[in-house]
Amino acid sequence: MANKLPKNSTGSTKTKIIAKSKPKVYITRQIPEVGIDLLKKHCIVKVYNKNQAIPKNQLDKAASWADALLTLLTEKIDSTFLKKHSHLKVIANYAVGFDNIDISEARNQKIAITNTPGVLTDAVAEHTLALMLAISRKIVEADQFTKAHKYKVWQPMLLMGSQMRNKTLGIIGTGRIGTDVAQKCYHAFGMKVIYCDIKKDDALEIETNAKKVSLHNLCKQADFISVHVPLCKSTHHLIGDKELKLMKKTAYLVNTARGQVIYEKALFKALKNKQIAGAAIDVFEFEPEITRGLEKLTNIILTPHIGSATIEARQQMAIIAAKNICAVLKGKKAINPVQ
Ligand code: GLV
Ligand code: GLV
Repeated sequence: MANKLPKNSTGSTKTKIIAKSKPKVYITRQIPEVGIDLLKKHCIVKVYNKNQAIPKNQLDKAASWADALLTLLTEKIDSTFLKKHSHLKVIANYAVGFDNIDISEARNQKIAITNTPGVLTDAVAEHTLALMLAISRKIVEADQFTKAHKYKVWQPMLLMGSQMRNKTLGIIGTGRIGTDVAQKCYHAFGMKVIYCDIKKDDALEIETNAKKVSLHNLCKQADFISVHVPLCKSTHHLIGDKELKLMKKTAYLVNTARGQVIYEKALFKALKNKQIAGAAIDVFEFEPEITRGLEKLTNIILTPHIGSATIEARQQMAIIAAKNICAVLKGKKAINPVQ
């Protein structure tokens, strides 16, 4: 049983005693076994076994029992929750994004928060490319057309799309994933790369001849825009009416980052009015809900937040989350702290 020390008189410092008996870890959904097995070597492990987001009261109960949590992006770890469960030593988020967790409150409570960077970069970048190709080559429409037995005769102008070579790719956010998408598009498709980010990316500029531009210019110049920023106050609704109006009529918008970066109502309007050529999005403003009407449009492709859904990435994410928990429970530093 983990000891919970009372806070000292100022309440500002707290020592967390590492349990002598096996520490307890609660996992909020079934994840690949490799991660669970790793944890079981050192900890008592419980897993929420329903295929839904864990209800708040059950998460509360689990957190009271546990020394560590392994959470998903469906769990809102807010300041009330963190204050109530300040005995927790670590919360390992099974994602690279951690906008579901109040990081500054976690810091106050001295709870380590970790994520799973690096191991899903290829998976998300590959999904981004899949979406770019699928929307610009009308893959989904073509599949539906063929399955409906509408293919009667070869036609010179049937389902024409646009090619990627020599087109301009606009990357919003050149972190790991944005950089990887830019590299893949430059090397594999011969695209011209422009980007916007808070900082200049010299390595990317040298490798891909990329140019840093303002968001305004990126929207105006790009043929494909791909969003790769984390969700925070300054990126919320980064793409709205104004940005969509700046975009070319022939341009495509792809989002595999976080839904709230795009104002979905404005996107719906832009697509309905054919103001842009199309969009392909893996993440939604009101996830898992989608803005009404989007599902009826043929110029958008929707996927259910599966960017990192490869066996390789999801297994590595499980291993990394487990290793972070083990490290902190052993009194070591987290391997991938997000604070
Ligand atoms: C998934 O969206 C992640 O942040 O890993
Ligand atoms: C996430 O891994 C990012 O830096 O894009």
